[in-house]
Amino acid sequence: MIVAEDLKTLHRDYVLTPWIAQGNVDVPVIVRGEGVYLFDADGKRYTDLSSGLVAANLGHGYKSVLDAMHAQIDRLCFSPTNWFQDGRAKLGQSLVAISPWAGKEGGRVFYTTSGAQANEDAVKFARMLTGRHKILTAYRSFHGSAAGAAALTGENRRWNNEPEIMPGVVRFWANYPYRSPFHTDDPKVEVERALQHVRDVIAAENADSVAALLIEPVVGSNGVIVPADGYLAGLRALCDEHGILLIFDEVMTGFGRTGAAFAAIRFNVVPDMITFAKGVTSAYAPLGGVLIREKLAQTFDTRPLGAGHTYSGHPLNMATAIAAIEAYQAGGYFERGRTTIEGWLRTKLGKLKEKHELIGDVRGIGAFFALEFVSDRAKRTPLIPWQGKSQGVMPTLFGALRKAGVYAFGRYNVIHIAPPLVIEEAELDEAIAKLDGALGELESAYAASLK
Ligand SMILES: Cc1ncc(COP(=O)(O)O)c(C=O)c1O
Repeated sequence: MIVAEDLKTLHRDYVLTPWIAQGNVDVPVIVRGEGVYLFDADGKRYTDLSSGLVAANLGHGYKSVLDAMHAQIDRLCFSPTNWFQDGRAKLGQSLVAISPWAGKEGGRVFYTTSGAQANEDAVKFARMLTGRHKILTAYRSFHGSAAGAAALTGENRRWNNEPEIMPGVVRFWANYPYRSPFHTDDPKVEVERALQHVRDVIAAENADSVAALLIEPVVGSNGVIVPADGYLAGLRALCDEHGILLIFDEVMTGFGRTGAAFAAIRFNVVPDMITFAKGVTSAYAPLGGVLIREKLAQTFDTRPLGAGHTYSGHPLNMATAIAAIEAYQAGGYFERGRTTIEGWLRTKLGKLKEKHELIGDVRGIGAFFALEFVSDRAKRTPLIPWQGKSQGVMPTLFGALRKAGVYAFGRYNVIHIAPPLVIEEAELDEAIAKLDGALGELESAYAASLK
């Protein structure tokens, strides 16, 4: 029998783990999932407080989705992409029915297998549709790690991709209420200045050469930054004024994360395209895609689409996503973030802030929250520098969480709290009590580091 330690050795010997230096990795070997829990090879249980990578929105092992996957495996596992297939048609209808264009002009979908591919294809479509080439993206953004998507990304996961292979990407500073790049604590002033900045960038770049503005409606892995009132609507107006397409990257925010099927619906701002992945299948199968409003999609009725992948509309992905969307709808999970989980997280994480001086900001929307750590609350000094070389004392927090039986995703001085939308209050309470204990360990480690 292979035991846990042997599996760890096998993993270290044969697998390259994303994003980290390989030498010092000592993490659990996950072998099973059930509900909001992951289990390692020793049988230890971990509450999944970040839904994997903000993706397994139905938790793990959701029965009706697994049943649909099994049934599809028995029926058909591949079908040529240039012929039609039943699952593609049905899923397209379901996705458009939950899109911001439902009941109005409608839309269509192009299938990919990841969020990165979806963003690259959306950019390709925007360039084809407008005949323009420049794409605006935010500095504090992540749009994927493939070369094109990394070029669209603003933060330091882009740096390994330089010199960039996708020319024409122009970056701007987006709205960030807690740490305004525009030097104000007044959300209204921040929005005005942030929009004026985008207006200036557009003018300086030649508005007639800008094809699209691509943005995460709530910044995801860079710290769950919820836009202040009016920011997204202001971007929509600016895009309209200059004939620029507005693309929402909803790879993280889609499928109930913000308390609606899409953040576009929660914020009541209608983009021209939405890119998605992750939660569309609750991450049970690797599906992504581009939703595009009907009036734009019609262009491709007479003109070749110019994009395609072997696995576009893979039958297993289709069946998984159809069942996941049915499950979200049957369980009211698209709305549960807004009606239930948001209140829990605001209150419970707010109490942690009262207790732990290192928490500078608790922010979020729906079931999508973050804690940002500071060494000085009044000055908002980041506990460790964003994009710096050192993780400082943060590994103590993640180590303590692992020991206590909690998984959560973090970057620099931010930890993401984005539980599966199926979580019950008692399950959340148990994990937050463990987080409370781990924050105590973080505080001790920080105090010791000052001596
Ligand atoms: C907002 C956003 N866009 C795109 C991506 C890339 O998606 P994928 O990893 O499926 O390529 C991610 C991944 O975390 C993301 O958070």
